[in-house]
Amino acid sequence: MAKKTKPILVLGSTGKTGSRVVPQLREKGFEVRAAGRSAETVFDWDDDATWEAALTGTGAVYVVDLQDKPGQWDAEAALREFYARAVELGVRRLVVLQARATGLVGGKDLHSGETAVRESGAEWTILRPNWFNQNFDEGVLVDGILAGELPLPAGDGVEPFIDVADVAAVAVAALTGDGHDGQVYELSGTEALSFHEAVATIGEAIGKPVTYLPVSQDAYEAELVEYGIAADYARFVGDLVGQIRAGTSGGVTGTFARVMGREPITFEDFAKDAASRGAWRG
Ligand SMILES: NC(=O)c1ccc[n+]([C@@H]2O[C@H](COP(=O)([O-])OP(=O)(O)OC[C@H]3O[C@@H](n4cnc5c(N)ncnc54)[C@H](OP(=O)(O)O)[C@@H]3O)[C@@H](O)[C@H]2O)c1
Repeated sequence: MAKKTKPILVLGSTGKTGSRVVPQLREKGFEVRAAGRSAETVFDWDDDATWEAALTGTGAVYVVDLQDKPGQWDAEAALREFYARAVELGVRRLVVLQARATGLVGGKDLHSGETAVRESGAEWTILRPNWFNQNFDEGVLVDGILAGELPLPAGDGVEPFIDVADVAAVAVAALTGDGHDGQVYELSGTEALSFHEAVATIGEAIGKPVTYLPVSQDAYEAELVEYGIAADYARFVGDLVGQIRAGTSGGVTGTFARVMGREPITFEDFAKDAASRGAWRG
């Protein structure tokens, strides 16, 4: 039976975290508006005429923004406008997906929109996760895994990858539970892994060797551009990987266990599960 709360608007509902937030909320009996440019609730950051219908009548919003698309978007201005509209239309709670990356990434400060939510007048929670496990099977790294060799400018850097199901679980807790207002959650997995270790774990799960090939950032970005990726986006991804190489992307935090009362999904369990679903069958 549906809970007697206002519907929850989930932006990015077709994406890695949003597509897990929607069913987790529905399983708990919450009414959800699953939004995206071509989702059941139409929402486009680039078309503010879509915002009002999506927001009207909702009580909380899971916010996935476009800050990972350099060059296209004035994040702070757009988010200020969006939050003002949301609060005006009765939204009381905002749970905002950000990233742990700090400093300039592709020339952009990924945290530039955080002040806007802090000053929105709504209750807010900011999620800052490390790299997602699902980059390996649903994101930028999948082609390298399928090819059996993953070239990246990550050197011998390590990253405590986190599973998007765990990020979604924290989002659901913050959207529906108490005690999360004003919190910034730095969410990591259990263990910092090098790319050598991560791809070896995947190779073991699929029964086929996968190797990691360290390359220079310039060579990597040039290759992305050759594949048709815009130069500013190639720089953005190159800089993100560069943070892992430089050891500044953020270590293991323990925040997930503190908030959720259980350990996060391990990379090994993610790899076994994805392999058993045929994620890397190509
Ligand atoms: N990937 C990671 O490892 C990682 C780690 C930490 C933080 N993050 C953060 O997570 C966020 C999402 O990144 P992701 O790689 O996981 O992407 P994603 O959520 O898998 O995909 C992006 C989502 O945004 C929606 N979207 C794109 N353009 C839109 C627009 N103009 N208006 C409305 N919705 C739009 C897409 O939906 P439609 O195309 O259906 O409209 C899709 O649902 C980013 O802010 C990123 O910084 C990612």
